[in-house]
Amino acid sequence: MSFIQIRDVSYTYPNGFMAVKRVSTNIEKGEKLAIVGQNGAGKTTTVKMMNGLLRPSKGDIFIDGLNTKGYTTAQISKRVGYVFQNPDDQIFHSDVYSEIAYGPKKKGLSEEEISNRVEKVAKLAGIDRYLDENPYNLPFSTRKFVTIACVLAMDVDVVILDEPTAGQDYVGMAQITKLINYLQKNNKTVITITHDMEFVVNNFERVIVMANKQIIADKNKRDVFWDFNVIEQSSIKQPYISELANSMSFESKILTIDEFVNYLFNSKKKV
Ligand SMILES: Nc1ncnc2c1ncn2[C@@H]1O[C@H](COP(=O)(O)OP(=O)(O)OP(=O)(O)O)[C@@H](O)[C@H]1O
Ligand SMILES: [Mg+2]
Repeated sequence: MSFIQIRDVSYTYPNGFMAVKRVSTNIEKGEKLAIVGQNGAGKTTTVKMMNGLLRPSKGDIFIDGLNTKGYTTAQISKRVGYVFQNPDDQIFHSDVYSEIAYGPKKKGLSEEEISNRVEKVAKLAGIDRYLDENPYNLPFSTRKFVTIACVLAMDVDVVILDEPTAGQDYVGMAQITKLINYLQKNNKTVITITHDMEFVVNNFERVIVMANKQIIADKNKRDVFWDFNVIEQSSIKQPYISELANSMSFESKILTIDEFVNYLFNSKKKV
């Protein structure tokens, strides 16, 4: 049985707007995957249902065999952590330490355990020098790492990152890559929403594509980024190097610069 099972789930916001329509998928323990798709496709709404922040209007979500319907958001979020798309929707303490310590405190850990955990995850997220700062004095990209650290501190089975790459520079991207690898090594499930297709190529194999409230593809990145039907329907961009290979009529589904160079080299050898 899959660790996360999403069964025919739809969601309608209180104002009557249906944002997710009949979505189904399975996600395994320790798996990592990316969710991509146009603005407003329903990505955030879908993942918020996985940790109980939103409840399916129709259908069911099972986490580790348990139907989320039978559990409170607080209970679900002990297993499934969600890092908000906008850190300002998540942060509510006036110093970084208290912000990260909040979850472990609620879990009833001792002061010493809490302090060890905060130190550890702050280091992992690269924000240990900011523990005494007010989060609102930090740049957006750093605030995002504060919110990631908060979820890491909960030691959840599933970590959902909603657009962690937005506004990150090269160093921030490398930090996120490091974190994703760390989580996977520790058998955590990592679900990442992103608009950065190069980031997807560099970090994931499985890609779920959403368009117009639904999942329109769920397959390997190479098959996604060379499926022009999916690309058009979901308004995603092919990675730049794939676009270039396509414009040069390469007969290979190129995804990386290495593959591009190898293709050129091998086709030259044949001439
Ligand atoms: N609280 C709300 N009330 C009504 N409609 C909402 C609400 N929140 C989101 N929506 C609408 O639901 C649809 C899906 O939103 P969602 O945030 O899930 O999309 P998304 O795929 O995450 O988009 P983005 O890439 O822009 O973050 C959008 O049309 C959005 O305007
Ligand atoms: Mg979103």
